[in-house]
Amino acid sequence: MSPSTESPSIERRAAAVITGASSGVGSALALRFAETVERVILIGRDAARLQATARAAEQRGASSACHVAQLESATELEALAAQLARLPAVSVLIHAAGEFSSEPVAELEPEVFDRVLRVNLRAPYLLSRALLGPLQQGAGDIVFINSSVVGQRRAGLAAYGGSKAGLMALADSLRQECNPLGLRVLSVFLGATATPMQRDIHAQQARPYWPQALLQPEDVAQLVHAALALPRGAEVTDLHLRPAAAHRPPQ
Ligand SMILES: NC(=O)c1ccc[n+]([C@@H]2O[C@H](COP(=O)([O-])OP(=O)(O)OC[C@H]3O[C@@H](n4cnc5c(N)ncnc54)[C@H](OP(=O)(O)O)[C@@H]3O)[C@@H](O)[C@H]2O)c1
Repeated sequence: MSPSTESPSIERRAAAVITGASSGVGSALALRFAETVERVILIGRDAARLQATARAAEQRGASSACHVAQLESATELEALAAQLARLPAVSVLIHAAGEFSSEPVAELEPEVFDRVLRVNLRAPYLLSRALLGPLQQGAGDIVFINSSVVGQRRAGLAAYGGSKAGLMALADSLRQECNPLGLRVLSVFLGATATPMQRDIHAQQARPYWPQALLQPEDVAQLVHAALALPRGAEVTDLHLRPAAAHRPPQ
């Protein structure tokens, strides 16, 4: 039999819903999943950067829809959740949006504390809850982009570390509740990754920023995509990544 000259057709899964898709890790995840889903549904604040991700996703064969939303706003979050809950089927929901804060408690303003908790923890809770029906229809997965700060005992992590510790509890609880419905839940604990968030952290701490020594968002996306590509009888629950180069002794 002569080999076919047609390119192999990919059987695409339904839709990927990704928060934080306008930047960094979320954008890289959106582009990776755009290769294997019918539609990417992108959520972020910056409309122009969100549209840029959408255009790049379409070049990878997926259709796209963009939702500009401030996730700390209860009104905007609830409107978004209600809209997404009407989707017919979702194959993956990825929570990548996040805000960082490192103020010591004495200097941590209540509104900053509330905002970090709202974006990093309340939004993933509410969107996961709203999408349980579509995720069940799509035999889907929920991915929480977490941080290696969980479990670390460091000053300045009351808000960010608290939100991410809560995110781990949310993921662990959801997994036990949703496995019987056919859903899988993955937490990804990232070390320093070369994104605008990490660039800003280095600037705040007046440290030189060498992005090439950090994790690359595309590598994170590749790993998450591979974990979810396993047969559904296998579930990766937790992935811990750190930049190898940052831990090598100086040459
Ligand atoms: N970079 C790291 O070293 C590192 C390490 C551990 C964990 N993480 C986690 O990785 C995830 C992705 O972060 P990143 O490094 O890719 O940072 P990033 O490049 O700064 O991206 C953050 C994303 O979150 C969105 N976002 C932030 N606040 C929002 C709000 N109030 N409402 C709606 N969207 C909001 C941003 O939207 P706009 O750009 O449109 O404003 C952007 O798309 C975060 O959950 C972060 O905690 C990062």
